[in-house]
Amino acid sequence: MKISPPNDGLHYQSGFCNDFATEALPGALPATQNSPQKAPYGLYAEQLSGTAFTAPRAHNRRSWLYRIRPGAMHHAFEKLDQPLLASGPFNQVDTPPNQLRWNPQPIPADDQPTDFIDGLITVAGNGDAAAQVGIAIHLYVANRSMHDRFFYDADGELLIVPQQGRLLARTELGVLEASPGEILVIPRGVRFCVELPDGVARGYICENYGAAFQLPELGPIGANGLANVRDFQAPVATYEEREGDFQLLAKFGGRLWAARIDHSPLDVVAWHGNYTPYKYDLSRFNTINTVSFDHPDPSIFTVLTSPSDTAGTANVDFVIFPPRWMVAEHTFRPPWFHRNVMSEYMGLIHGAYDAKADGFTPGGGSLHNCMSGHGPDAATFDKASNAELAPHRIDNTMAFMFESRYVIHPTRYALATPHLQKDYLQCWHGLKKNFNGQP
Ligand SMILES: [Fe+2]
Repeated sequence: MKISPPNDGLHYQSGFCNDFATEALPGALPATQNSPQKAPYGLYAEQLSGTAFTAPRAHNRRSWLYRIRPGAMHHAFEKLDQPLLASGPFNQVDTPPNQLRWNPQPIPADDQPTDFIDGLITVAGNGDAAAQVGIAIHLYVANRSMHDRFFYDADGELLIVPQQGRLLARTELGVLEASPGEILVIPRGVRFCVELPDGVARGYICENYGAAFQLPELGPIGANGLANVRDFQAPVATYEEREGDFQLLAKFGGRLWAARIDHSPLDVVAWHGNYTPYKYDLSRFNTINTVSFDHPDPSIFTVLTSPSDTAGTANVDFVIFPPRWMVAEHTFRPPWFHRNVMSEYMGLIHGAYDAKADGFTPGGGSLHNCMSGHGPDAATFDKASNAELAPHRIDNTMAFMFESRYVIHPTRYALATPHLQKDYLQCWHGLKKNFNGQP
């Protein structure tokens, strides 16, 4: 077994569309062309395309990989059962318009070895991987590192939101470690495995079938703000030269497949291009909010967006609710009551969310679908309606939302699990009738 020299270096993105260039051995990257007659070190050149060849230049994503063996070298795939993993079309059960909320998914007991793939549980989704539209929302709970098995997802890119425990993702293009409070994005097709430096891990995944995540436009905000390009990190080349009886897993066509492979597919010695996994520390988000009154729509907290073919109407947005100062004058400061054509799945990484006094706990989730009313619970409404409006800092919090233009359908599991809170609607039942005909 040979692993290239320890290299914890990371690129900082200088632009989502720029080319990176990285080599684990000097001279492994061909200097002047992508596909020379003989690549250096006897490597094979392989292009990995994340967009159609003919996608406009600003959106085109591809990387050239210089690897020990080409990606085609493995045995035939056979279907693998993973009953809790679901994919579009999401029609297992009728979707109620009910507001739904779940307690955290427990991490399996130690006598139930569960790696990152075993521990995937689909709770909701929309669209269809085959049509390259929509998303799936998975939870992961794991207590083992992936040993001698590797995974890629042909159906979608994976936006991974760790909630407990670090993830060490060894990918074809290099190594990325993500802690709770950071996110990790693995593009469609990139092979990787996940190790658990803390022994256990739990978190959320948005499997994005649509256009790859990109930074939102900033409009009148200007050239800076929200998530800044320079804070995104991509890996540098790191390779394994390792042979054995390994397993290559694929999510393809909504199913999980497994093939034998006699070597590590993480054998890319050098690469260049703009199709790469990346990570981002959510604490680097430049939060923008009102400094006068009212508050902007939560889109002001968008970290990444997957646009659809309708302008301003996302396949999915990834939005966070980070620590921030609240200074709005004569304003009801928590999120207001609202109904939305977009559908909203929320999760909580740590702390408390300012629209709910209790019941929404780290690792839990909630779903407010298209036009289903929601907002602060009774306790929060009372408190915020009477609070003194001095500048106030919301600390110790990091909630997030996957917000999609398409109704988000819960899976059969999500509606049957005991972690579904049967009494969620009660949180609004205590809201008093204050109207008495007097101004
Ligand atoms: Fe909402």
